[in-house]
Amino acid sequence: MSKTYDIAYIPGDGVGEEVVREGLKVLDAVEEVFSFRTKRERLPYGADHFLATGETMPEAAFDRLRDMHAIVLGAIGDPRIEVGKLEFAIIAGMRFKLDLYVNLRPIKLYDARFCPLKDKTPQDVDMLICRENTEGAYAGIYGHMKHGTADEVAHQSMIWTRKGVERIIRYAFERALERPRRKLTLVDKANALRSQDLWTRAFAEVGAEYPDVETDHAYVDAACMWMVKNPEWFDVAVMPNLFGDIVTDLGAMIQGGMGIAASGNLHPGKVSMFEPIHGSAPKYQGQNKANPLATIMAISLMLDYLGEREAAAAVETVTVELLRSGRIRSLSAGVHGTDEIGTFVADGIRSPVAN
Ligand code: IPM
Ligand code: MN
Repeated sequence: MSKTYDIAYIPGDGVGEEVVREGLKVLDAVEEVFSFRTKRERLPYGADHFLATGETMPEAAFDRLRDMHAIVLGAIGDPRIEVGKLEFAIIAGMRFKLDLYVNLRPIKLYDARFCPLKDKTPQDVDMLICRENTEGAYAGIYGHMKHGTADEVAHQSMIWTRKGVERIIRYAFERALERPRRKLTLVDKANALRSQDLWTRAFAEVGAEYPDVETDHAYVDAACMWMVKNPEWFDVAVMPNLFGDIVTDLGAMIQGGMGIAASGNLHPGKVSMFEPIHGSAPKYQGQNKANPLATIMAISLMLDYLGEREAAAAVETVTVELLRSGRIRSLSAGVHGTDEIGTFVADGIRSPVAN
């Protein structure tokens, strides 16, 4: 009997529907070739559901998700709805309520022509960002006083717990250990944000348990500079939530843009969520223009997480081949049809050459 995984998918808003459809098309092909199956359940959350029912994402949905092996998310965000409302209820909701403490964001350049940096090749851009995903500036500790007046005061606190910092650092050391270079960089701003001294100490203490991993440190401002100047210096990097959010958009650009950047929101051993880094891009909705590769790469991350390593690698290998051969000419929206790219990858998976 082959293994069956329970997968929930939430297409969400904007181009989410189209890119998830192509991601699942690739998953169909993978299931034909590899010996596992998925049982899929669609969840309706997003702007349309909210406008029709007043519901963002109910507690019952989180309970349902806890029974799954993995979740595929398209995109959340809609101009008809107050900024941040659905993003926080659904994306941050899953990250917090399912305690998805690792936001794993690989930054890999698949072909030199996609890199905006001069003379950089795929050998130079291959890093794994481990963004802390449940604390920091996203903890939701904020408020306003004298709202809307000339004397308004607003605050938002960043918080870190010893346990929260330690577990993401430990995860990053484990990932560094698996990679050929075995290097881990801590990115923080402990020179200005003195409370981040907690990160400095936890990194040193956990690091003592991993003598085979070379450690390095960069303040986040300098890290942005080095990522552009010498991306080859980075292997695995670990950082607080907000810095990880910012640094990974920069990272997405040096790997070729939002068309290809994927992420996994993980709690090792529990249900985890996989999504493209890009947003809902409402201007492209329903036009068959969005590039589904970011979602397809998120499917690859999901397969890897589920332990289907060969299947995960096949999705990546087929994609790289399509990019390097020029069959996929560009990562920008509108160059290829959304469905065309999905079909290219699905056909590549089915063809014997790819396997
Ligand atoms: C991301 C997004 C989210 C974040 C938003 C939509 C809340 O930018 O996943 O990077 O800030 O984490
Ligand atoms: Mn972001």
